[in-house]
Amino acid sequence: MTANIIDGKRIAADVRAEVTRETKTLADRDITPGLATVLVGDDPASKVYVNSKQKAAAEVGIKIWDHPLPASTPQQELVDLIEQLNSDDAVSGILVQLPLPEHIDEDLILNLVDPDKDADGFHPRNLGRLLMGDPLIAPATPAGIQQMLIRSNIETTGAHVVIVGRSNIVGKPMAALMIQKAAGANSTVTVCHTGTRDLDAHTQRADILIAAIGRAKAVTAPMVKEGVVVIDVGINRTEDGLVGDVDFDAIKEKASWITPVPGGVGPMTIGMLLSNTVTLAKRRAGIP
Ligand SMILES: NC(=O)c1ccc[n+]([C@@H]2O[C@H](COP(=O)([O-])OP(=O)(O)OC[C@H]3O[C@@H](n4cnc5c(N)ncnc54)[C@H](OP(=O)(O)O)[C@@H]3O)[C@@H](O)[C@H]2O)c1
Repeated sequence: MTANIIDGKRIAADVRAEVTRETKTLADRDITPGLATVLVGDDPASKVYVNSKQKAAAEVGIKIWDHPLPASTPQQELVDLIEQLNSDDAVSGILVQLPLPEHIDEDLILNLVDPDKDADGFHPRNLGRLLMGDPLIAPATPAGIQQMLIRSNIETTGAHVVIVGRSNIVGKPMAALMIQKAAGANSTVTVCHTGTRDLDAHTQRADILIAAIGRAKAVTAPMVKEGVVVIDVGINRTEDGLVGDVDFDAIKEKASWITPVPGGVGPMTIGMLLSNTVTLAKRRAGIP
């Protein structure tokens, strides 16, 4: 079997077109969704991510406020900025690019973002609502993965979804999404991590395998069964360029569907961030 490729770029283009239609409708009512991006420090990868998010936002009609801060920014200065953005009526979404420098308490900052402006969906209230099955918005990467599954007509009801990775931004919210009794979910979910005994035994049972590990080609062909759907979240910079967390070339011969890296989950993450920003802007304006 050679896998069908889940083309994240194409699906993300559809999402962006939908968001553009929404911003145009909002413009007719004099509403412009606005996204404030906050980047502390000069990590090259983070800069690339923030630039791509800003560019994509501008293209779909979202106003951008760029807040680049030096790595040495005192925590209090960041706190003051977030409070100012929270009280600025023109700002519908706030994105704080992670990771933050070590001297800044990441949890404190994520807790400070107004949950109604939390474009990334990382605030505990939004994560709690997601877990309860009543999300305002979902973190962009898991939400983008769910959209890829839905829009590729991949059956999730009853599927055994195995997630490798339990970060607060990918693995845990992904599990919270897929266990819901809802369309594009209703799955049986296993979450694996470094404490998992016999990882292969779990991954081999996956109907849908979601790898969010952060190690190049950590998932190899013997670890998956024939016909599996593989979603590769990983972005690893290696001598061979950008590679995912799965051994794409070998696994595509066994899988039924697979996402490439780059061009898979990454573009969807950006698409869903834009969608989240518009959702928040509509909610602020009282539009269902
Ligand atoms: N495409 C996108 O838009 C996007 C978005 C976000 C992240 N990413 C990428 O996705 C990857 C994961 O990101 P993250 O933020 O979730 O990473 P993270 O916070 O570093 O979490 C990695 C997770 O993988 C688990 N893990 C590591 N090695 C393992 C092993 N050998 N066996 C089993 N589990 C293992 C860790 O377990 P423990 O908890 O036990 O340590 C942890 O839960 C990274 O490559 C990141 O760059 C991509």
